[in-house]
Amino acid sequence: MTSMVIKRAEKILSAENRDPNLMLKDIVELLHTEKPNWDWVGIYVLDGEVLKLGPYIGHPTEHVAIQSGDGVCGTAVKENSNQIVEDVSTLDNYIACSLGTRSEIVVLIKEGEEILGQFDIDSDEVGAFDKADEALLEQLSIMVSPWVREYKKIMHG
Ligand code: SME
Repeated sequence: MTSMVIKRAEKILSAENRDPNLMLKDIVELLHTEKPNWDWVGIYVLDGEVLKLGPYIGHPTEHVAIQSGDGVCGTAVKENSNQIVEDVSTLDNYIACSLGTRSEIVVLIKEGEEILGQFDIDSDEVGAFDKADEALLEQLSIMVSPWVREYKKIMHG
């Protein structure tokens, strides 16, 4: 069954001639609106070995660049695998964006084997994310990957 979020995302992404930045911003906004406990929703774009912060909704963060291997986000890149963290207080290498954050999910955005970036989502509740959320974000990541590719081009001027 196609979820309402996927249907709305399809609509956003079917608009023609739109700025990739606005497209991706609309997608993070959609997730933030539809999922009440997804308190911080963002997209990081991989530039070499560094994740750079793209469109996001939530508290402003100073973590605009994260090295591969660092924190939950960098671990996803280094291990080439999505991450679901039930309780961030149990992690040693956690990079806190907001003191209120209790759980986190990272889902890679890929094109074939190449990692283009990732969805990074924080919640102020413990255990806010499950396999169904991962599956939804995986579906979305396939849909947004061409736009992340375009976003990267613009990022490099
Ligand atoms: N918590 C992430 C850093 C990014 S912020 O959550 C926006 C991490 O540990 O990599």
